[in-house]
Amino acid sequence: MGLTTIDEALELSEKEAKKLHKEYLNPGLVSIMGLIGFDKVYTYAEGSIIKDKEGKEFIDFLGGYGALNLGHNHSEVLAAVEKVKKLPNILQASLGVLPAVLAKNLAQITPGELRRSFFCNSGAEAVEGALKLARIATGKEKIVYCEGSFHGKTLGALSVTGREKYKKHFQPLIPGCQSIPFGDIESLEQKLKSNDTAAFIVECIQGEGGIIVPPTGYLKLARELCTKYDTLLIIDEIQTGLGRTGKMFACEHEEVVPDIMCLAKSLGGGIAPLGAYITTEKIHDKAYGGMEKSLLHTSTFGGNTYAAAAGVAALQAIINEDLPQQAYEKGEYLINKLKELQNRYPIIKEVRGKGLMIGLELKSANNGILNTISGGKLDDLANEYFASLVAGKLLNDHNIITAYTLNNPNVIRIEPPLNISYQYLDKLVYALEKIFNQSQSFIKLAFDNVKHIYKKS
Ligand SMILES: Cc1ncc(COP(=O)(O)O)c(C=O)c1O
Repeated sequence: MGLTTIDEALELSEKEAKKLHKEYLNPGLVSIMGLIGFDKVYTYAEGSIIKDKEGKEFIDFLGGYGALNLGHNHSEVLAAVEKVKKLPNILQASLGVLPAVLAKNLAQITPGELRRSFFCNSGAEAVEGALKLARIATGKEKIVYCEGSFHGKTLGALSVTGREKYKKHFQPLIPGCQSIPFGDIESLEQKLKSNDTAAFIVECIQGEGGIIVPPTGYLKLARELCTKYDTLLIIDEIQTGLGRTGKMFACEHEEVVPDIMCLAKSLGGGIAPLGAYITTEKIHDKAYGGMEKSLLHTSTFGGNTYAAAAGVAALQAIINEDLPQQAYEKGEYLINKLKELQNRYPIIKEVRGKGLMIGLELKSANNGILNTISGGKLDDLANEYFASLVAGKLLNDHNIITAYTLNNPNVIRIEPPLNISYQYLDKLVYALEKIFNQSQSFIKLAFDNVKHIYKKS
């Protein structure tokens, strides 16, 4: 049959790996990655550093889209997984110790009365679980969500995600989901007033939406309205949680306690796929209390030993290294430096964010320049992915990995590991300065990238 072994796999060249991707995975994605130079193969990762086969070092400012708060291959998380490797990893006919301990630890670090957890394997699954929990616990159908939000791409999570592009091919999605503008408290009250809403799901800072920080006090007022109209507040901390914004959970900036909190990404310590929702005893009892209802929502891999061990070690390391405080201090430092850059380079429209969840919004390249220089070939793509052109330059000229946000491609997202060194933060600022300085205008920047793209195609 010619199956490739793991040893052979590890010896494959970049070209061979790319060929396999094209043939057996997603060829369109390979093309997009190629356009911006993201079609590389790396062979080593530790902390904020990644290396290719030649030993060339790259700094990771993408941080696994928020999944690498602890950095790559954190030694204590790896050691925890190593420690449990002789235990049964998957045995449903047992009560595993590790998921129970992880749930207990989560209850200790989350705010308010949050206590009962459900473990799954991704962010979207955590959201699915939260939506189902809200419906069964309240007996209501309607879910309110925000425009520009991102909660995942499974059918349920997609139904409460605020971007049409991802939804339009999959209609009808689940019924009863209604959107409102993010940050608009009057619209929320209008929706909740009828008392038939099971839940309002919201991110504290919209991540994929373009690192959008709502007006101060928004979450607090949303909390009050949810309580007033008997609606559960689901806070999606999948990207903002576990230290990213300078607090353990971003809802703590406003001392808001949700009824259900969704977690994933860094919960697995950058090693294991691990998602969770956590809720109060009261809500959980209402939903799944008693033997009959206890199996209504389950997952084969949810709470497996390896993932739970990674979660336990991840929480410990986040606290030991005081990553929320590190994110707070480094975030202040970097945001200030980026704002200084903004004063000098009008190409930067806005610098925003909290802690080490930072968005750098660039002015749109929508001026036909690319159309002219590429004969129309790249105009649409480049307009939509302008920030990715800058990300491409950061990668190709400065060995710095960043990316753009899914819902707002003019925003470069900066979400490095929270234990990144100040020296690397300075390198990013230096590299951006060089790029904007060299490319005095859009034309130069676009032209450089078009040349690069043509070279590759
Ligand atoms: C806020 C938020 N919720 C949910 C998700 C979905 O997580 P996953 O990709 O693990 O399904 C993401 C992923 O980016 C996210 O940022």
